[in-house]
Amino acid sequence: MEVKTSLLDNMIGVGDMVLLEPLNEDSFIVNLRNRFDHNEIYTYIGSVVISMNPYRSLPIYTPQKVEEYRNRNFYELSPHIYALADEAYRSLRDQDKDQCILITGESGAGKTEASKLVMSYVAAVCGKGQEVNKVKEQLLQSNPVLEAFGNAKTMRNDNSSRFGKYMDIEFDFKGDPLGGVISNYLLEKSRVCKQPRGERNFHIFYQLLSGASDDTLMKLKLDRDFSKYNYLSLDSANVNGLDDAASFRTVRNAMQIVGFMEAEVQSVLELVAAILKLGNIEFKPESRVNGFDESRVKDKNDLKEMCELLGIEQSVLERAFSYRTVEAKMEKMSTTLNVAQAYYARDALAKNLYSRLFSWLVTRINESIKAQAKTRHKVMGVLDIYGFEIFEDGDNSFEQFIINYCNEKLQQIFIELTLREEQEEYIREDIEWTNIEYFNNAVICDLIENNQNGILAMLDEECLRPGTVTDDTFLDKLNTICAEHQHFESRLNKNSKFLTDHSLPHSCFRIQHYAGKVLYRVEGFVDKNNDLLYRDLSQAMYKATHSLMRQLFPEGNPAKVNLKRPPTAGFQFKASVGVLMKNLQTKNPNYIRCIKPNDKKVAHIFTDSLVCHQVRYLGLVENVRVRRAGYAFRQPYESCLERYKMLCKKTWPQWRGPARDGVVVLLTDCSVPTEEFAYGRSKIFIRNPRTLFTLEERRRACLEDLATLIQKIYRGWKSRTHFLLLKKSQVVVAAWYRRYAQQNKYQKIKSATLVMQSFIRGWKARNILRQLKYEKRCKEAVTTIAAYWHGTQARRELRRLKEEARRKHAVAIIWAYWLGLQVRREYRKFFRANAGKKIYDFTIQRIMQKYFLGLKTTTMSPMDNTWPAKPYGFLEGAHTQLRRIFHLWRCKKYRGQFTEEKKAVYEEKLEASEIFKDKKALYPSSVSQPFKGDYLEIQKNPKYQKLNSAVEEVLLADLVNKINRANGKGSPRLFLLTKSNFVLADQKTGQVKASVPLPDLASVSVSTQSDGFFALKLKEGSASASKGDFLLSSEHLIEIITKLHHIGTTAADRDQINIDISDEFLVQFKQDKVCVKFIQGGPKNGNSAACKRKNNRLLEVSVPSP
Ligand SMILES: Nc1ncnc2c1ncn2[C@@H]1O[C@H](COP(=O)(O)OP(=O)(O)OP(=O)(O)O)[C@@H](O)[C@H]1O
Ligand SMILES: [Mg+2]
Repeated sequence: MEVKTSLLDNMIGVGDMVLLEPLNEDSFIVNLRNRFDHNEIYTYIGSVVISMNPYRSLPIYTPQKVEEYRNRNFYELSPHIYALADEAYRSLRDQDKDQCILITGESGAGKTEASKLVMSYVAAVCGKGQEVNKVKEQLLQSNPVLEAFGNAKTMRNDNSSRFGKYMDIEFDFKGDPLGGVISNYLLEKSRVCKQPRGERNFHIFYQLLSGASDDTLMKLKLDRDFSKYNYLSLDSANVNGLDDAASFRTVRNAMQIVGFMEAEVQSVLELVAAILKLGNIEFKPESRVNGFDESRVKDKNDLKEMCELLGIEQSVLERAFSYRTVEAKMEKMSTTLNVAQAYYARDALAKNLYSRLFSWLVTRINESIKAQAKTRHKVMGVLDIYGFEIFEDGDNSFEQFIINYCNEKLQQIFIELTLREEQEEYIREDIEWTNIEYFNNAVICDLIENNQNGILAMLDEECLRPGTVTDDTFLDKLNTICAEHQHFESRLNKNSKFLTDHSLPHSCFRIQHYAGKVLYRVEGFVDKNNDLLYRDLSQAMYKATHSLMRQLFPEGNPAKVNLKRPPTAGFQFKASVGVLMKNLQTKNPNYIRCIKPNDKKVAHIFTDSLVCHQVRYLGLVENVRVRRAGYAFRQPYESCLERYKMLCKKTWPQWRGPARDGVVVLLTDCSVPTEEFAYGRSKIFIRNPRTLFTLEERRRACLEDLATLIQKIYRGWKSRTHFLLLKKSQVVVAAWYRRYAQQNKYQKIKSATLVMQSFIRGWKARNILRQLKYEKRCKEAVTTIAAYWHGTQARRELRRLKEEARRKHAVAIIWAYWLGLQVRREYRKFFRANAGKKIYDFTIQRIMQKYFLGLKTTTMSPMDNTWPAKPYGFLEGAHTQLRRIFHLWRCKKYRGQFTEEKKAVYEEKLEASEIFKDKKALYPSSVSQPFKGDYLEIQKNPKYQKLNSAVEEVLLADLVNKINRANGKGSPRLFLLTKSNFVLADQKTGQVKASVPLPDLASVSVSTQSDGFFALKLKEGSASASKGDFLLSSEHLIEIITKLHHIGTTAADRDQINIDISDEFLVQFKQDKVCVKFIQGGPKNGNSAACKRKNNRLLEVSVPSP
């Protein structure tokens, strides 16, 4: 909620001078000082704002402050320039009243700053949007441009405005800015050529030289060094706190935002550069034949550069500095200029050039910021005009005179609009008014501007008068005409009141301005008023190719030669001030009175005398008096009633009757003391702002009550609507819920029913099942019983039938026998005697046939021993014979299938059988082993290739153990048997150890047991016998011996080899005969037979028992 505040809250001193007690000059200044010391730089006199220059930045212009003051009552918050700006803006926007903000005060009092604060506040609070923001930005950015060209450092202000400025800001019906119009007043152009000590030329010159890039400077033919230019004062070129280079960038940026084209900016800078160059042109005298001196340009370099910059023909300008053409009544005369005149012409040109450039800038800015829409505008004017100026040393000239005249006019308008208007209104409204004496400065204005005998009129008259005109003749004229005027003082006055006044020099006159007496030196008045620029110069300027130059000097156009003198400076100024005053009078004025606290331009110093002087000449105390004597607030009855009608039940909500009566009723009801207000004809006058505040306060409270009422009703309505909605929703929700609950319940019952149903059905089914099972068992029992019973019956029946059948059979047999007997007895006589033999033969034939067919099952294998048993005893002999014949026959068949090789193998096998069967225990195990012959594969094995080639066709090759004669141990040897000999060879190398021709072999001895030992005994006396017999062992003993035996039997030239099979035999080892004895060994011997030398004569071989 908004916090209710008032101007009266936390006041330092008094915020409104109207409340000051006691009221006098001292208390006024004490109050100002008190507030100034507490950083309260603003104080009110009613609606007028007094602003003290703090000379330092205070944190009171923040966006938060803007928000704080926005849309607030003027007296609600502590005094601030924003409150005034807000009041003006709102009454412009809401009440459609054009406003003007008049900012007055001395140089350096803070007028320009105040005007900028007002503009920035209005910019902050008015509408927003892309277009509006652009307008705002252009309006705000016009300030830096104008300040650069129109402000300068002076003794009193580092940023002193050297021109007057009035800016109309235009708004649409919503209060959004549309554009603006700037008017400028009398630029102090003399500053271009000459500046008082400690002051500077216009900022732009310094900014250009410090801030422009080297490139730009080169183009402008300028040098960065200030000292190179005569027009620039050097002692104060650098100002503390002023960064000219940065300002230059700001200005260029501002020009761009305002809408200057790049070419335009360049042209402007060229003119500024040209002025600097112009100042450097110097002249020298040159004597002429006629005895007069004629001026000549000293060093033409600057002239040349200037001409180049502006595109002027150098000779034309040069001539313009040496000659002057005077035209009168169709006659043209050319006179030469002396050096002084040339300097005068140069400076006049510079001043004119600069002031015209400045006016062009204003026009150009106006072009950019002018409102586009043609609709009716609301206007807020901001007037920032140079302050009242008094140079204490009496060095006040024409400019000060003009400036002070302007201030005089402003004071007058202030007086007019506040004091006089106030009084007049009281009279109009028929309110009792105690007349207040105040000084009306109209008389001073009249002294200056009166058309007949005003100072300006006389100056013009003097300037236009033929004959010699000097400042002195002008002063003389003043002395005659104004002598009687009470505000004019002069030493040469006929009324020699001031004859002895030494403070008043002879060449001066003094005017008692409303702000104090000012002494003016007449020197230069005539010239400055004339503001003469020789036509030759303006024509030379017009000839320039620089387009802007041509625009600035239109009078130079030879086609438009005007012989009439241009209006004087004074006349022009008077006219523009007149226009301004008329303009201001149509608007609602808002005053800001700026006061400068000290001369030193520093913070925290408050110089009483200086402030007192300003307070006095601004007539501030008088202003308060008027305010207090009268009524602080007035308002038409209608609007007053409209505003406060809610404070009284009788007037609320509608008062029927005249508004005045309504206000009477209202104020009586509110018990406002009668001395606090007065009833005018159309307005109510409230004496004290406090009464107003009270009314405002009560109104606000009332509004709050009303707001509460509205809120109450609205809330009631809202709650009811909400409640109804809730209720409706509740019904819907409940319905849905009930539906849902019932559905749930139904589902539960349904599932319970299903469970119960299934249980009952189950129980019933089980009952039926049990019943059925019982019935089934009963049926089965019945069936079983029936089956048993039937079985018994059947068996009984069967037995009976069998018995019956047997009986019938016996009967039949008996009957058959008997019948046979009968038949045979009957028919015997009919049978033949040999019938018996035929039957017998037939029977025998049948039996034999059956017997032979029975033999058919026997197989063809010779190994098959099966043979059917004999069927009849009488076939016994035939049966055995048949078996033998059949076996022989099938053996023959079997042999018939054999090949030659197979036959040879079987023959050998047969031979082995003949030799060993039932003689040696090893034999049965050899039957199933085929005789392979070559176990070593001697032909294929490359290891034995050499061996193979050494012997003839090998019949047998095997690995044997040669038994060592000394210890009976065996060592492996290759044993090869050929048709003619046997060979023993080394197992590894295949080298032949012994080769014995078979004829040398006498016999072979082997044991009866299952060992593989055999001795090859050689014939005594044979060639091989010298080495002795061989005792060998082999796994293929049977095969080796059989093969040896076979060779012996087949060879025709040899004896058959004897084979001796016994468990003890003699072997000839070299000289000795050793007995080899085979014994049955225990199982400890393992599977193979072991040979051991027992003694010299005995070699024992133990053979494992089978
Ligand atoms: N409200 C303020 N806050 C801070 N400084 C201020 C304020 N007002 C003025 N100043 C300071 O005072 C200086 C002078 O103010 P300003 O230029 O507004 O004076 P002026 O009245 O326009 O003078 P002139 O008549 O010479 O143009 C400013 O440059 C600024 O430094
Ligand atoms: Mg200023």
